[in-house]
Amino acid sequence: MERRRYMAFLVLSIMMLAFTWACGGGETTPEGGNASPAATPAASTTAPVASTPAAGGDTNAAKAAISKEDAQKLFLGRCKACHSEDGKGNKAIAPEVPDFTSAPWHDKKQDKELYDSIANGKGSGKGTMPKWNGLLKPEEMQGLVEYVRSLKK
Ligand code: HEC
Repeated sequence: MERRRYMAFLVLSIMMLAFTWACGGGETTPEGGNASPAATPAASTTAPVASTPAAGGDTNAAKAAISKEDAQKLFLGRCKACHSEDGKGNKAIAPEVPDFTSAPWHDKKQDKELYDSIANGKGSGKGTMPKWNGLLKPEEMQGLVEYVRSLKK
């Protein structure tokens, strides 16, 4: 008997709680409606600000590139002989080598072109740009494109 009463009380209070909650919910909706437009621009103004620097990093992530540090290691290990550490190129070894510090050179090149040249090689004769496809992973070659871009003066 006691138990049933207790159960009834419990059920009742749960129902009342649910009711209050539902009512409260109904009341807060218009308030929430007011609050959310205020919160939305606030959220959206911070979002581009926050995402802009992140987007720079995300571009790399989207194209899946290794970090700049890793790309630099690769460049110094595999590309320096012909392209030299500063990117100006070692003409004695590779006479056709472009100057990676030259802004006009960068301006006439597209990332895709650079990537394709790294992947498939370019030119002929002495010190030809080798083909790196198979030796380097796509994300490594993408990282090298970005590294080469970073040498622009
Ligand atoms: C044996 C010498 C040599 C090595 C090693 C070498 N390159 Fe090159 N690279 C060249 C030469 C020469 C050219 C110019 C090719 C041409 O335009 O005819 C060139 C051109 C390029 C270009 C410009 C391509 C274009 O479309 O104009 C990029 C980017 C490049 N190399 C990146 C790299 C990277 C990254 C590495 C290392 C993974 C590397 N190279 C290793 C000789 C070399």
